[in-house]
Amino acid sequence: MALDERDRILQRLEETERLAELGGGEERIARQHRAGKKTARERVEALVDPGTFVEMDKYVTHRCHDFGMEKQRIPGDGVVTGHGLVDGRPVFVFAQDFTVFGGSLSGAYARKIVKIMDLAMKVGAPVIGLNDSGGARIQEGVESLAGYADIFLRNTLASGVIPQVSVILGPCAGGAVYSPAITDFVIMVEGTSHMFITGPEVIRAVTHEEVTKEDLGGALTHARRSGVAHFVAPDDLASLALVRDLLSYLPSNNAEDPPVLASEDPEDRRDDSLEDIVPTSPEKPYDIRDILTRVIDDGRFLEVHAQYAENIVVGFARFGGRPVGIVANQPAVLAGCLDIAASVKAARFVRFCDAFNLPLVTFVDVPGFLPGTAQEYGGIIRHGAKLLYAFAEATVPKVTIITRKAYGGAYDVMSSKHIRADVNLAYPTAEVAVMGPEGAVNIVFRRELERAGDREAALAEYVRQYRERFANPFTVAELGYVDAVIRPRDTRARVCRALRMLANKRDSNPPRKHGNIPL
Ligand code: HXC
Repeated sequence: MALDERDRILQRLEETERLAELGGGEERIARQHRAGKKTARERVEALVDPGTFVEMDKYVTHRCHDFGMEKQRIPGDGVVTGHGLVDGRPVFVFAQDFTVFGGSLSGAYARKIVKIMDLAMKVGAPVIGLNDSGGARIQEGVESLAGYADIFLRNTLASGVIPQVSVILGPCAGGAVYSPAITDFVIMVEGTSHMFITGPEVIRAVTHEEVTKEDLGGALTHARRSGVAHFVAPDDLASLALVRDLLSYLPSNNAEDPPVLASEDPEDRRDDSLEDIVPTSPEKPYDIRDILTRVIDDGRFLEVHAQYAENIVVGFARFGGRPVGIVANQPAVLAGCLDIAASVKAARFVRFCDAFNLPLVTFVDVPGFLPGTAQEYGGIIRHGAKLLYAFAEATVPKVTIITRKAYGGAYDVMSSKHIRADVNLAYPTAEVAVMGPEGAVNIVFRRELERAGDREAALAEYVRQYRERFANPFTVAELGYVDAVIRPRDTRARVCRALRMLANKRDSNPPRKHGNIPL
């Protein structure tokens, strides 16, 4: 090759690199910053270990010739893709660049995402999607829709094979929302991110409802009302730090064990303050997190869906350095009853943990399923069945601690011995029965109560007898349905020992194409 030819190629390379880095240009970058948002490249740099990002397909441009698009080609075409390391482990990343055609998705852009998803599947590494896009690129028509479908297919095939995390850092609307929705976790940024199928204008035209973009699809709406968002972050950088924290609990793929993080917290640490957390009165609420944070490594708990269905608490923690998924009824909200939202929230979390080899540690204090027409009409029967199904099919190590009430069907559902939990423990305050004392006595002793001279006194006496029979852990322990009654202060040591014993657990389900979870 002649020297001047080589120089021309190097010059072209430099220019292409410069244009790719510039994206939609200085003005649009400044607009992005004024909106309180980072650019796609700034986000990627903040996400991965410094200096580890390797960009791919920086030279790709769109192939559209309509509406003057042939004159507007920007290298990279509005999405930054590649791989890097997070805490030394490989991850694949795509970051939509809102400064280029509003981050809208073209055929070429979709193929860039598909390429890294296919690679991630081959090498067994997570995919992190940073979303900030106006949706399908209008000028590309069906090419864009085809591109979305190619991504949805890969999201589905990768589900349960590699962790997939979506961070929403701007608009994400229309059918585009279905890629994040299929991924394992959705993180939204307060104030700047929005997700909806149809926006406020369409809603106004069709249903005459008035709603703001924020109320319809802002971070808090999806964190509290719809449950679409698992986490909310105050800004871009916090959302990316959250991804790093989340990944620290997860294996890179379903064939690996989750990463062990050395901890100074002794496995046999005893905590006497645990003895007084569960109130002696069965009606009194308490915050289950007061138990959780005292028993896990260093009190570090990454709560998932913290603002949604607060009557159940789920999240990641470690015992002896090994990551686990925690599921816990929350007596401080709705007395810890299971309802539709709580069942769906916990079921999805349990299935995630089972897919990625995270042992399940379950804390039970549940008076039953929430009564009411809203729940029945809403389908609590099929939604509640999801949680039962999820716990029953899970083959990871399962450790269950009954802290107080375990009533009715909810006892069976909450990782009971009968659905293959491995180690079941009970506090001295545990009560396991078909239902609460008042309800039970009113059914069993209805005639006696009608005949009683002093109905209140008779009721109190029957309730006392019922409590004596069932409001203790011994009935269930005598049958072997819990393996031991433990002092609360020993919880951490017992759970750590159980998890060590179960470390090499192997269990499986019957061969089949897939089960039919009641969706
Ligand atoms: C092409 C687009 C675009 C799109 C935005 N732009 N959306 N270009 N296709 N879908 C361009 C704009 O022309 C503009 O270009 C730049 O991006 C920034 O857009 P603005 O409107 O100036 O920004 P802003 O005011 O912040 O508003 C952002 C927005 C709005 C809310 C996203 O642009 C918008 O409503 N866009 C259309 C959204 C939409 O209807 N998309 C299709 C949805 S259906 P310049 O050159 O001026 O900077 C869909 C189907 C997916 O996505 C199907 C999957 C199955």
